[in-house]
Amino acid sequence: MLKIPHLIYGTAWKEEATEELVLSAIKTGYRNFDTANQRRHYVEVAVGDALSQAYKNGLEREEFFLQTKYTFPAGQDERLPYDLNADYNVQVRQSFESSLEHLQTTFVDSYLLHGPSQRSGLNESDWMVWTEMESIFKEGLTRSLGISNVNIEQLKLLYEKSEIKPRFVQNRCFAQMGWDWEVRKFCRENQISYQGFSLLTANPFVLPTLREISQRINKTPAQIIFRFAIYIGIVPLTGTTKILHMEEDIALDFVLENSEIDFIEKVGIQFLQK
Ligand SMILES: NC(=O)c1ccc[n+]([C@@H]2O[C@H](COP(=O)([O-])OP(=O)(O)OC[C@H]3O[C@@H](n4cnc5c(N)ncnc54)[C@H](OP(=O)(O)O)[C@@H]3O)[C@@H](O)[C@H]2O)c1
Repeated sequence: MLKIPHLIYGTAWKEEATEELVLSAIKTGYRNFDTANQRRHYVEVAVGDALSQAYKNGLEREEFFLQTKYTFPAGQDERLPYDLNADYNVQVRQSFESSLEHLQTTFVDSYLLHGPSQRSGLNESDWMVWTEMESIFKEGLTRSLGISNVNIEQLKLLYEKSEIKPRFVQNRCFAQMGWDWEVRKFCRENQISYQGFSLLTANPFVLPTLREISQRINKTPAQIIFRFAIYIGIVPLTGTTKILHMEEDIALDFVLENSEIDFIEKVGIQFLQK
């Protein structure tokens, strides 16, 4: 059965520390992991090695939510997980099979298109990729499909024209764009779970505005942003490399007042108007 995560540990940019950090995240209590078969930014095989350690320590595959991605050649470096000259459907299949091997699993929970091949619209290549992803879904090898780095126009098009609808969207979240409100609204209306990344790094100006709330509830600005994100329907991704931050980012069972949520929701737009 597909589980919808509330918080995800992201495994990008960790290189040789990937296995150890994923193991630390598991020890801290994280069970939902995001990766990609894109060696340029991820070491997917090390995520699999960490999971295999966790299984030896008594955890089971079903306790985890594993999400990975197919990345077009333009987003890769020379370490490709597929034949560059193959058609896109073949690339997807090769990338997916190699992901299963890396992750030492027979299925994933979510398979994402890392991003459409162009900034606007969806072209023949995108559809060829999505159709192969649909086949993978129909074969029961992934429990859901999704798309990342997508704008509202592309998401609507995909949703309308696809046979298997996206169940997840994963986007960078800018406070100045109302935390991607247009895409989030469409997701909310269509049972798509919205995952947000760069919640802290794309919005550094928000952190100092949270001092008062931070003092009131004795939580850090980073925790407040993640908690706020969950309130407005965003599944936060954290890729922290510090144990202390791992502990903080998962300790989100505190309450924000409606006025505080409202303030954070609008803080970026007000920043733009200044
Ligand atoms: N689909 C895509 O194209 C795409 C693109 C980017 C990212 N992602 C996914 O999203 C994941 C997260 O990436 P991200 O861009 O959001 O950035 P990130 O790698 O999570 O980095 C967040 C920054 O915030 C800091 N941080 C985290 N928790 C903190 C806390 N409690 N207090 C203070 N600082 C804290 C981290 O520093 P410390 O390490 O020092 O804690 C780090 O500098 C990635 O690993 C990847 O899985 C996907």
